Amino acid sequence: MSGDKTGAARFLALHGRTTSLILETPVGKAPLWRYWGPRLPDDASPPCGLRDERPSPSFSLDRDLPLSVFPAFGGGWFYTAALKAHRNGEAFAQAFTGSRVKTVEGRLTITLEDPVSGVEVEIQMRLDGASDVLTISTALTNRGADALDVIDLAAAALVLPAAPARVRYFTGRHNREFDEREELLGAAAWRRENRRGLASHDAFPGALVLMGGAGRDDGLVYGVQIAWSGNHFQSIERIDDGRRLWLAGEGLAPGEGRLAPGETMMTPDVLATCSDKGANGVAQNFHRAIRARMEWPGGAMAPRPVHLNTWEAFYFNHRLDELKSLADEAARLGVERFVLDDGWFKGRDNDRSGLGDWTPDPVKYPQGLRPLADHVIALGMAFGLWVEPEMVNPDSDLFRAHPDWALLIRGHPLLTGRNQLVLDLTREDVSDHLFAAIGALLAALPISYVKWDHNRDLAFAGDVEGRAAYGRQVRAAYALMARLRRAYPAVEIEACAGGGGRSDAGVLQHAHRIWASDCLDAPVRLSIQRGFLQFLPPEVMGSHIGAAPAHSTGRTHAMELRAGVAATGHLGLELDIRSLDANDRLTIGSWIEFYKRSRGLIHSGAIWIGDEIDGLLWQAHGAPEDFILFVLRVDPTRERFAPTIRLAMADPVRRYRVRIEQGWQRRGWVMGGDFFNRLSDDGAEISGAWLNRSGLPMPPMLADSAVVFRLTAQ
Ligand code: GLA
Repeated sequence: MSGDKTGAARFLALHGRTTSLILETPVGKAPLWRYWGPRLPDDASPPCGLRDERPSPSFSLDRDLPLSVFPAFGGGWFYTAALKAHRNGEAFAQAFTGSRVKTVEGRLTITLEDPVSGVEVEIQMRLDGASDVLTISTALTNRGADALDVIDLAAAALVLPAAPARVRYFTGRHNREFDEREELLGAAAWRRENRRGLASHDAFPGALVLMGGAGRDDGLVYGVQIAWSGNHFQSIERIDDGRRLWLAGEGLAPGEGRLAPGETMMTPDVLATCSDKGANGVAQNFHRAIRARMEWPGGAMAPRPVHLNTWEAFYFNHRLDELKSLADEAARLGVERFVLDDGWFKGRDNDRSGLGDWTPDPVKYPQGLRPLADHVIALGMAFGLWVEPEMVNPDSDLFRAHPDWALLIRGHPLLTGRNQLVLDLTREDVSDHLFAAIGALLAALPISYVKWDHNRDLAFAGDVEGRAAYGRQVRAAYALMARLRRAYPAVEIEACAGGGGRSDAGVLQHAHRIWASDCLDAPVRLSIQRGFLQFLPPEVMGSHIGAAPAHSTGRTHAMELRAGVAATGHLGLELDIRSLDANDRLTIGSWIEFYKRSRGLIHSGAIWIGDEIDGLLWQAHGAPEDFILFVLRVDPTRERFAPTIRLAMADPVRRYRVRIEQGWQRRGWVMGGDFFNRLSDDGAEISGAWLNRSGLPMPPMLADSAVVFRLTAQ
């Protein structure tokens, strides 16, 4: 941090390890964006104030209004504004005349005041030196005498350099989250909004901007994500000096932004970073920052246990003897946590009834869940339970007792999704009831894990007074999670919403795992996971081996590929493992052993994702001096010889011990060449420069196979 003076202009710099930002701080005005990009030397600053280096062009206002950290509407800013608000149709514009910047331990607090429109804005901005991630949030206070109606409020307004660029973003649906798209940024604004009330399957709250020809490992890439599980917007727009303005924040429904005099509205955090090491560099920065934000029971992450989830094995069809025998087989295979999914509670024989009645079904579980939980625990596994606290089926005792507890649009009939309604968590009595109901289960049973689902979009999301409750509902769900965690601090939470509909950095302040998708088809899953890993770290990515054929696509893939894809995240099994043939059982067993001995590396450090020619997909996890390399082949080869994989992370001045760590046992890849025999026995020593510049030779691999290497610098 430095306050520097050049001529009349003052500058303020924040430096991380690999990035810097520089603001110009004109007296009484909002700070101006001068730079955000790769690290500058501590003493580098602009040669002069912005106003001195850009004389007014023809047909311009007599007062230049350059891009600030909070471009406001109406006073000569002609692009999207960070704030749109009014007071009963008046006070539509803001012009900040008061500005204070405070810096405490690398955290900037920028306070902007406009006494005319009665608006005060406080922006918090912190550049974390360890991750190079900027965390930005904005608080808006109504200082006027009457209500202020906020239409749009950005959490962050960021700058991108003037250069050709592409935006990479993710769309999707249930069973196909993180579907990657890329578009050239032009003169028209790029805008993405989500109105589904959840982070949603179809609009992940984040994106990348790749400058020039930037790619996976090279070139300058910027990334932004909103730590928020609700409605959101992101927009990128070219401004008149060729730079681009990137705005992101919570999406407000009509009326949601009404502030009484003295009232403050807080945005979610936006996490933003850039790296000249390509998209992988951005992912590594994000992972570091999110790890630092996580709150684990006991203060630190325990090794991520292998899961067995009952959903795709049994769906709603629970029988105690069958569940016990599934648990027996799970324990034999090395599973460490057994999660009882949907179907366990009163009246839950299908998805039309039962939600809201969180007591064990008396027919399926005449003695409650205790016999199953005790059985699981006696086998040495932890016991987890599925719940969907925000939801209620009209066909439930809860709804019959409280038909007024559901969110609604007043004057319209209720609208179900998957036959369910959403409870209004903004009501204290509803949140108290849910705390008591879920708490009673956690208190009575040895449950150390809760899978917390949300299986519909948040539409018809008004309260009894007729006001939109989208944002308040998300905040109330976070508060309920936090309250349960305070009362039961040993319990971990998995966030889920029809698979990955609640995948975001916001829920990770309360949860410890995200169920990335209901799609267990290995190649589709791999692509979903690659999108997920662009923003969120692998240890929180729930990743299961499913049945063949896959229930979501009907396709069959070999066990080795299914296991190789699942082992790159937080591994689990989600199939009836009692019906596996001997080969598949052996394969699963060996991947579980591999996962257990490698999870320390898989779940810490950096990841690098890559594609080679001939359809070879790879992923490295760890540190440049010691990493695991997953290599996956989905389609059959088209080449006579296998390619080599260039490993940009390998240190060119070290020598590496290279071993095949997993994937030898099976038909997976065709044996060939002494070299690979050596790699799977003792390993071989290879120069880092060779790996970095020429690459690691690959064995010929069959379609649907996986092989894993470990590379350790000597
Ligand atoms: C959602 C989840 C699944 C499963 C079902 C249960 O679809 O994503 O994993 O828990 O709900 O109804």
